[in-house]
Amino acid sequence: MLIAIEGIDGSGKTTLAKELKKWLENEKKKKVLLTAEPFTEEISKLIQEEGWKDPVTLTLLFSADRGVHVNWIMKQNQYDIIITDRYYYSTIAYQSAMGIDKNWIIEVNKFFPKPELTLLLDIPAEIAITRIKKDDKFNFKEKLSLLKKVRENYLEITKNENSIKIINSTKTFEEVLSEAKNYVEELIS
Ligand code: TYD
Repeated sequence: MLIAIEGIDGSGKTTLAKELKKWLENEKKKKVLLTAEPFTEEISKLIQEEGWKDPVTLTLLFSADRGVHVNWIMKQNQYDIIITDRYYYSTIAYQSAMGIDKNWIIEVNKFFPKPELTLLLDIPAEIAITRIKKDDKFNFKEKLSLLKKVRENYLEITKNENSIKIINSTKTFEEVLSEAKNYVEELIS
């Protein structure tokens, strides 16, 4: 079972992923694998050196990285649930905000398995950037308008997709976690 966690930078994905894993293991006795994209060190390096200068190459690099990631995920048979911090909705939301045609991104990513559940942590970009701390390696603080567009794209995607659940991430973390648990519970029961 594949669960994806999505949202703009500073939306709290990583913390949620870790806490969901703990809860699933301790309370639900599930074997959980936590993973994240970008996945491979080699492609991450190319993304940093080349990708951010060129959105077409960036789209292809994130998608190629995903191909490697998915092949690896397919071999992790010992787990009941795999939680990925970012998946193909990230490419759709971010790279289309950079001007890449959404349909082309969808086409390039169409071979990847669809997650049974995607949790979208929704938060206004202005609030999210106050949470992005020192490790803002992509200078999103200077790219508020881009993040705003990314958020709009995420919300747009959810309109025709029942497996994506929106969680209001401006709430307290306890509330966010509890909502997320409800969606996961629905899925596994
Ligand atoms: P992420 O790993 O979430 O950032 P962090 O450094 O905090 O762990 O992702 C790195 C950045 O890459 C993030 O700003 C989102 C962006 N991204 C895309 O633009 N497209 C994608 O397909 C993916 C997976 C990430």
